[in-house]
Amino acid sequence: ITGDAAKGEKVFRKCMACHDTGPGAKNKVGPHLDGVVGRHAGAIEDFSYSDAMKAKGDEGLIWTPEHLAEFLEKPRDYVNGTKMSFAGLRKEDERADVIAYLATFKAD
Ligand code: HEM
Repeated sequence: ITGDAAKGEKVFRKCMACHDTGPGAKNKVGPHLDGVVGRHAGAIEDFSYSDAMKAKGDEGLIWTPEHLAEFLEKPRDYVNGTKMSFAGLRKEDERADVIAYLATFKAD
């Protein structure tokens, strides 16, 4: 998956109400997303995930770019029972771009 991080920064506006990134990023409605690319699903200790997301983590789901793209297309289909209230990113390039943007933020 190859995206454009600069374009992804604009796409991320759709996520910002619920997600924080960057130095000192905090959990909001959703978990902070620093280091999310390559992270286990449901791995932020002080965030209260849905049982569905915890189950994905227990199954060993890792947020590779490919899995993130599938999740972000239709979150509620990919993680049935997720509490992420977001319909999804319909366009493939938007998904690729936001993933490239997220990849610029490493875990603290
Ligand atoms: C979870 C990305 C939009 C609320 C997640 C996760 C990712 C993600 C990767 C899994 C994190 C993990 O396993 O630690 C995004 C992106 C968005 C977006 C890229 C925009 C395109 C939103 C919006 C909301 C939201 C708009 C709030 C209305 C949540 C919540 C969770 C979550 C509550 C936890 C889900 C659960 O425990 O089932 N998001 N998100 N997200 N997100 Fe988002």
